[in-house]
Amino acid sequence: MPDTIPFPSAQVRFGSSSGQPLTRRDGFLKVTGAATFAADNHPENLLHAVVAVSTIARGRVVSLDVEAAKAHPGVVEVITPANCPPLALDPDEKHGLFGFRFDALQNDRVRYAKQPIALVLAETLEAATEGTRLLAPVYETEPARIGFDNGEPYAPATVGVGGAPDFDRGDLAAGLAAAAHLVDTEYETPAQYHNAMEPHAIVAEWDGDTLTIDTPNQAIVLSRAAYAAFFGIPPENVYLRSPFLGGGFGSKAILAGPQILCIRAARMLQRPVKLALPRDQMFGPVGHRGATRQRLRLATDAEGRLTALEHHAVATTSSFDEFIEPAANASHNLYASPAISTRHGAVRVDTGTPGPMRAPGEASGSAALECALDEAAAAIGIDPLEMRLRNYAETDPATGRPFSAKALRECYAQGAERFGWAGRPLAPRQMTDDAGRLVGWGMGSALFPAPMFQAEARATLRADGTALVETAAADMGQGAWTALAQIAADSLGLDIEQVEFRSGTSDLPDGGVAGGSGHTATAGSALHNAGTDAIAKLAEIAVNDPASPLFGAGNAGVEAREGRLWHREDETRSEGYGDILARSGMESLEGSGTGGRDPADAEARAMFSHGAVFAEVKVDPDLGQVLVTRLVGAFAAGRIINPKLARSQLYGGMIWGLSFALHEEAIHDRRTGRPVNADLAGYHIPVHADIPAMEALLIDEDDRYVNVLGIKGVGEIGITGTVGAIANAIWHATGVRVRRYPIRIEDLIG
Ligand code: MOS
Repeated sequence: MPDTIPFPSAQVRFGSSSGQPLTRRDGFLKVTGAATFAADNHPENLLHAVVAVSTIARGRVVSLDVEAAKAHPGVVEVITPANCPPLALDPDEKHGLFGFRFDALQNDRVRYAKQPIALVLAETLEAATEGTRLLAPVYETEPARIGFDNGEPYAPATVGVGGAPDFDRGDLAAGLAAAAHLVDTEYETPAQYHNAMEPHAIVAEWDGDTLTIDTPNQAIVLSRAAYAAFFGIPPENVYLRSPFLGGGFGSKAILAGPQILCIRAARMLQRPVKLALPRDQMFGPVGHRGATRQRLRLATDAEGRLTALEHHAVATTSSFDEFIEPAANASHNLYASPAISTRHGAVRVDTGTPGPMRAPGEASGSAALECALDEAAAAIGIDPLEMRLRNYAETDPATGRPFSAKALRECYAQGAERFGWAGRPLAPRQMTDDAGRLVGWGMGSALFPAPMFQAEARATLRADGTALVETAAADMGQGAWTALAQIAADSLGLDIEQVEFRSGTSDLPDGGVAGGSGHTATAGSALHNAGTDAIAKLAEIAVNDPASPLFGAGNAGVEAREGRLWHREDETRSEGYGDILARSGMESLEGSGTGGRDPADAEARAMFSHGAVFAEVKVDPDLGQVLVTRLVGAFAAGRIINPKLARSQLYGGMIWGLSFALHEEAIHDRRTGRPVNADLAGYHIPVHADIPAMEALLIDEDDRYVNVLGIKGVGEIGITGTVGAIANAIWHATGVRVRRYPIRIEDLIG
């Protein structure tokens, strides 16, 4: 790509909607309970399904007392491997990059605790639940392999979604040999479960060979095809509705056994069936973040400049499938080093298969990298912010490519200013508050890729001057439908109130995946292109019509705003959309557009969002209790379509980071392999009292290359940087460097 490329986003006219902090359009429906989530659907003649799950982690089911369950007056059917009709595709095969192997009663094997072993269908939820209790499974139990040291190590072929496990750039040995300082350190992160507020739920109904499903889903059209494939029907025979999601975080982007079982039961019994997983069943068949063990070697010269950066990560995965948390990749793109070397290993354990979970790789990897860098700064005796500035990457360290835009320096400066970082004592254990608590300040850098996927959209101008825009986008609470409607309104030169935004069902143009922090960029580009296509078609009609005041203006001589086309050079010449359509006898006019990135553009520049997070903690010196009293993040993520929603996403990410640092850990009993804290009492996540004060600053960034709208993403970056910032602040407060998450009271006392 030549350096003289014109600035595409400068050609985009932003109207009254983009950039406005509009409130979520679905907010009122949600707070009043009017929003219909999947489990709120009650079709006539509905059957309730409850999954019976294994209480062992490895072995086989020898017997189930199906007769006892069926004898329950409300129970209609019990589905087990013995009577389960086959699927059109084998769930033990890999079907595409996003396809995970799953358990849908294909045999009697048990591969993890909480695995489905039967499905009970009943007239009521209570009867179905009681039915599962009557099954009294008898197992043949094999010892569970839990934890890094008990699992089976192996070398994965890929990490994350199709990524390479190893990466080398520069001469690592030379970089290590040249070092004045070397930090050699190891960090551990635990298994974490998505735990969206809304557990996975599905209502399935068949009409002949046509299937309607209500289920929360992050990739509606893609998933429609996957569901269709498993049931041997064409994709257009599947109608998937996912208007509201109570969180997804990656786990609702994948197909899993429970959803498939529900659809199968509905077909078998020829009745609509509802299945909503209870909370404890979220700790098994629907994905999680694998645990990691990460070794880092940071070699620096006397002034703290990296001469080599080595990052080896080992992650847990299941015994039967792969998703390897690509944690070491966090060291590829953030800090300048003449030599970077990363490796990934894996250990098979008897849990469900991990999957993408908010900021896969970057979250865990950043949690280790940002602390290792802090260790290096402390060893050398320089300020952590100065350390990061000395290692500032002017070009992408992994590829040498220029960044499409990178306002990280501004993030550091404005974040530090807002936080009051200046004057931070270098040594730990120097600050206390009035109550005698130890006070510490720490920081971390944040980074997340700015990918684009593929999406399509349609925009229809209507005779009454309003418009209908359509794309099957997923709003999982992040506010996509609001931000996307803002983009659509501007592309059409309309007020957002004049735009009907239709989304969330599989019969619409493919809105792509709400994931990878690329949804607004991808679906937004498709909507923008659809809107401008409709306007271009309308303009062509007007400028070629002698009866129009715009006659002869030429396509480029017209612009769209306030529901009218205007002559660019003569303000007295304009015409409303409805008038143009009416005169040409048209009821409506349709435009279409796609969103995606030209591979050549992706090759030419490195595209990332960046940020800096500053944390203050107070630690009780006697009790070891940690309170994060302040969090300030500053983020540069291209053009912000809706600052209120973007901030809310960043807050959510930062809270997640706090949760990672101090709270979340799934604990599997080493004897049974069972998750022992499979509920929200035992699996800790922060509450309001854990988050006294936080700020997310949005740093201006004009990205001329990332896409036509200049949009990056904000969904995941907030986690990165935050975990390390808090851990580093705890070190600064106490002088104790904890290298295993979550950081606990017992790590800080004694
Ligand atoms: Mo996500 S883990 O990109 O839903």
